[in-house]
Amino acid sequence: MAFHAPLLERIPQDIAAVSDYLPYARHRLDDNAWAYLHSGSADELTFRRNREDFDQLRLNARVLGQVAGGHTRLQLFGHTWEHPVFLAPVAHQGLFHPEGELATILGAGALQAGMTVSTLASRSLEDIAAQAEIPLWFQLYIQPDRGFTRQLVQRAEAAGYQALVVTVDAPIFGLRNREQRAGFHLPTGVEPVNLRGMVPPPPPPLAPGQSVVFDGIMASAPTWDDIVWLKSLTRLPLILKGITHPADARQAAELGADGLIVSNHGGRSLDTLPSSIAALPGIVHALEGRLPVLLDSGIRRGSDIFKALALGASAVLVGRPWVYALAAAGPLGVAHCLKLLREELEVTMALCGCRDLASISPDLLFQSNFPR
Ligand code: FNR
Ligand code: LAC
Repeated sequence: MAFHAPLLERIPQDIAAVSDYLPYARHRLDDNAWAYLHSGSADELTFRRNREDFDQLRLNARVLGQVAGGHTRLQLFGHTWEHPVFLAPVAHQGLFHPEGELATILGAGALQAGMTVSTLASRSLEDIAAQAEIPLWFQLYIQPDRGFTRQLVQRAEAAGYQALVVTVDAPIFGLRNREQRAGFHLPTGVEPVNLRGMVPPPPPPLAPGQSVVFDGIMASAPTWDDIVWLKSLTRLPLILKGITHPADARQAAELGADGLIVSNHGGRSLDTLPSSIAALPGIVHALEGRLPVLLDSGIRRGSDIFKALALGASAVLVGRPWVYALAAAGPLGVAHCLKLLREELEVTMALCGCRDLASISPDLLFQSNFPR
């Protein structure tokens, strides 16, 4: 795996916001890794919409409130977190830093940010857990071999992971055009090591006229029955990632899910889905407070986190921004990226008169009939 430039040893002065890491990451990564990291699926409409919809939302500040002594702490899945900013699961981090997830975990630990480790991590889930100073969640891609899937869950439990994040929106990566055009491949030395030993089942033979999608890939894709099965398999909280339809949110609650992540996979799975922030109110409404709802996709500013919390999210996950920072400056970059987001959130809270997360309410978002 070749990197084009050395890691930054200190943070340049022109990095004042997480998006400022983007050109530094572009400079360091080759076209292959960049196409994987920066792209969305198909026409990238959802990828862009995730940002546009956050930008359209305005704040409605309250002044002169007493916010001294405020904090960003929250309780979630049995743990007290210092702030509501979590690292979203990101596969193949060996593409972005020679140490991969072991570098990321150092940066996350420095900011006491919860991290979700991908099934497709470049380092073993046990090695990552051994480095962690914070509770970790394990992101599970249910494998066609359910026996192997069970072993993954058992390994995550044995290694001390505190929750299982089951990603449900990506049984197929159909149309990653930019990646396909760049001929994306995993370079030598970057491997999803946690899947070692899994023998992929032979693809079912297709009769003439059968569909590669319905009769091929989707033949072993997870269904709601697998969620029931997982629930019976583990005591860990089960969090479903990739819910955007209110009816699915209700179904998840009925089947015993412990939390949901409203997510469109950062615009990387089904294109033309609504942005996560636009989908959030419908999900929150459907659940009537039965489960905690988290959100990812498009978070680039502390004010975005504030907006998500104002619309009913308990916390957010962030994907690409800290990956840019990891590629540019390693653990230092990850920690700095998280610090920027946390401080921006605190500034937004202070300027809106909120001294804790519970005070972030929908009336702090501006409603207007004024034409834009
Ligand atoms: C992802 N995402 C992801 N999700 C998941 O459940 N398992 C995975 O292995 C990955 N891998 C992955 C790789 C890369 C390079 C990216 C950018 C994203 C999706 C991720 O968890 C999250 O949903 C989005 O990244 C959130 O959007 P933003 O913050 O990147 O806009
Ligand atoms: C991705 C997968 C691996 O988004 O979740 O690339």
